[in-house]
Amino acid sequence: MKKVLFVTSEAYPLIKTGGLADVSGGLPIAIKALGHDVRILIPGYAEAIASGMMEPLRLPGGRMSPMLHHGLLPGSEVEVYGLSHHDYFGRAGNPYLGADGKPWADNAERFSLLCHVGTELAMNRLGLDWQPDIVHCNDWQTGLIPALLNDELQRPATVFTIHNLAYQGIFPHETFVRLRLPNRLWSHEALEFYGQLSFIKGGLVFADRITTVSPNYAREIQGEDFGCGLDGLLRQRRERLSGILNGIDVEVWNPAKDPYLPAHFDRAGLERRGELKRHLQRAFSLPEDPDVPLLAWVGRLVEQKGIDLLLEIMPRLMALPLQIAVQGSGDARFEQTLQHWGKLFPDRFAIRVGYDEAHARLIEGGTDVFLMPSRFEPCGLNQMYSQRYGAVPLVRRAGGLADTVVDTNDETLRDGTATGIVFDDASPDALFDAIQRALRLYATPVDWRKIQANGMAKDFSWQVSARQYLELYELAEQDRATCLPHAARRAHG
Ligand code: ADP
Ligand code: GLC
Repeated sequence: MKKVLFVTSEAYPLIKTGGLADVSGGLPIAIKALGHDVRILIPGYAEAIASGMMEPLRLPGGRMSPMLHHGLLPGSEVEVYGLSHHDYFGRAGNPYLGADGKPWADNAERFSLLCHVGTELAMNRLGLDWQPDIVHCNDWQTGLIPALLNDELQRPATVFTIHNLAYQGIFPHETFVRLRLPNRLWSHEALEFYGQLSFIKGGLVFADRITTVSPNYAREIQGEDFGCGLDGLLRQRRERLSGILNGIDVEVWNPAKDPYLPAHFDRAGLERRGELKRHLQRAFSLPEDPDVPLLAWVGRLVEQKGIDLLLEIMPRLMALPLQIAVQGSGDARFEQTLQHWGKLFPDRFAIRVGYDEAHARLIEGGTDVFLMPSRFEPCGLNQMYSQRYGAVPLVRRAGGLADTVVDTNDETLRDGTATGIVFDDASPDALFDAIQRALRLYATPVDWRKIQANGMAKDFSWQVSARQYLELYELAEQDRATCLPHAARRAHG
């Protein structure tokens, strides 16, 4: 049995802004189910504490922990430690951004605290009488942990997972000084990145193993186009870098019993999706027409997701017989332009700005086509949810989208592997062509049903990936054994 400390800045259903929360709410449960002791450390955000899912932690011996709350990840036996700190995590709102949409001014302090506490927990210095074999860190918010642990004797092995290389946790040099990080970490072989402090480099330089969330993205980030300035470092560490595809929680995302859906269906009863399509059209105030092809979008309205490509072809799209529904939030300029289109074409185009779990599920259950023309996509979860819910994903051949959606052509229709529509160029024309291809396929119901059924038959559950992580933990432990701590390395000269 392995003991794993999983450190993350969000986990469903405690707190969620995107896919990281779904992964953090799913993978630990799958690892636990394989018989391992995995525990989560997460900031104790006001919302998560107020939900009553965590209580102040009593330490072995009866003393109360000065900083940790404790509970179980709802619906599971996975233990969660919530780092409570009134000033840093007690505020309401988004975990990373203030109401003005800008990062909280003290993010470096907030997540540095998470990393210090993670390091102390990893070294069994918080009175818990528990030391993990592995510390599994996720994204820049946890990046300092491998760097801080590197100096410790008898430390656990470290794994760092990149969910999105574009977010790096970059701060000015003054922040490095203010955080009182060890001086030796100020070097381009450590946390320095072109004169600034980079949290993510702590993970990329010091973790025993680096993973990312799809094999394709693991390849892409070693090149200049997707390397975000870190491709050189990643190439240097390529022996330690691998891609493990995300799974999805097939209990939480199950069209046969999803509590958010007003009607349920399975692969044998696909025609019942018609009822959901009607609900979806009503929810977005679109005409309730069962025959018109309905295209939908759920996600962050940012360039990464290719929303600008969709905006470019809006004039052409609005001349076609189709409907489009968008649920999302993000850059204000995209939100406003989309709202403008909604006013111009209320019978064809509808947008609901904001984060809404119920509408996201209704879209998966009721739309015909799910749009995901991402410029880059480390893994992407929605295209997998779509397939499970009988919606046909239309995606760009990028990152994990390429690993999880099979394009439809004569051959893939014949051999039963077709699950969606995949296009190559990140250009408005390529997206427009792909949508036209989708409309032609939709007009051939026999083929359309086949694509839907193929997608629904796929197994995207966490089990396979959880086993791969366990193999990786093993390798990380072997690598740690051969790696001297920094201090000892210096002594050896
Ligand atoms: P990313 O993490 O890059 O945003 P993913 O596809 O990995 O992309 O995961 C996004 C997750 O967040 C999905 O579960 C999706 O349903 C959810 N999501 C994103 N935006 C919204 C929204 N506006 N309302 C509801 N759910 C959303
Ligand atoms: C990031 C990526 C997304 C991935 C998610 C979970 O948010 O943008 O592609 O699915 O992390 O790993």
